[in-house]
Amino acid sequence: MDRKKTQKIVREAYSRIALGQEGCGCAPGTCGLDPMEFARSIGYSEEELKVIPGEANLTLSCGNPTALVGLKEGEVVLDLGSGAGFDCFLAAVRVGQKGKVIGVDMTPEMIEKARANAEKNEFENVEFRLGEIENLPLGDNSVDVVISNCVINLSVDKQRVFQEIYRVLKPGGRIAISDIALLKELPEKVRENIAAYVGCIGGALLVDEYKKIVESSGLKYVRVTLKSSSACVDPDTKDPIGRVILNGLGENETLEGYVVNVYVEGIK
Ligand SMILES: C[S@@+](CC[C@H](N)C(=O)[O-])C[C@H]1O[C@@H](n2cnc3c(N)ncnc32)[C@H](O)[C@@H]1O
Repeated sequence: MDRKKTQKIVREAYSRIALGQEGCGCAPGTCGLDPMEFARSIGYSEEELKVIPGEANLTLSCGNPTALVGLKEGEVVLDLGSGAGFDCFLAAVRVGQKGKVIGVDMTPEMIEKARANAEKNEFENVEFRLGEIENLPLGDNSVDVVISNCVINLSVDKQRVFQEIYRVLKPGGRIAISDIALLKELPEKVRENIAAYVGCIGGALLVDEYKKIVESSGLKYVRVTLKSSSACVDPDTKDPIGRVILNGLGENETLEGYVVNVYVEGIK
């Protein structure tokens, strides 16, 4: 399928998720889970969860990228694919009133939801911008830290995303990204299924390929750390994305042998 068409399908799916018309996105098998419990299972502490507005947690994440970077007061942070603002609000507390957090998302309904969350919870140092992570609505050398949580696997041009990250980072700026990657190629039936793409599996890169793409952007000290997967699928799941994936796997195979959560770090 061509890139524009795929991106349109991804945008429409996340619009429906933002509007509450469809419950599942990343990490198939998460449908129906308690959002707080899910967040704990992917690395958020009780203290962190206390500062994040509940409505910003749509169980679409696959790690805790802000835990990686040691954000400092006064820093400017950019969150790629910010959804309802989940990690932006956590980062906003860390950088304080002298700092700033910018969330970019291509889905208008997500931006609207994130802005409403910011207003309702009186976050004044967070801003949400509509845009694509392949063409960031930010100037060159303008941010200290780029974070992202379960988004880059959805991009139809990952190389371009990292070129954009490099462009907007200040010299010495750093990245902390949680994402899903592959340990081995997916069976064709899964790879070519658009529901698996929307579910953050079909578009995922092999771990080595991921590292090469990040390095080719010019970022240095690139590290890809494997974490246990949150994307395992219960064989009896009713989650439609989970079912598509299970149906594409061989008998007795589980998704665990294929996908892994990764943390990606690097410095400009
Ligand atoms: C799986 S959700 C993760 C949301 C958020 N990071 C979280 O952890 O809750 C993916 C988000 O990325 C956005 N997205 C996907 N592809 C994008 C792209 N190419 N440019 C901008 N946003 C994108 C979607 O609209 C959606 O809000």
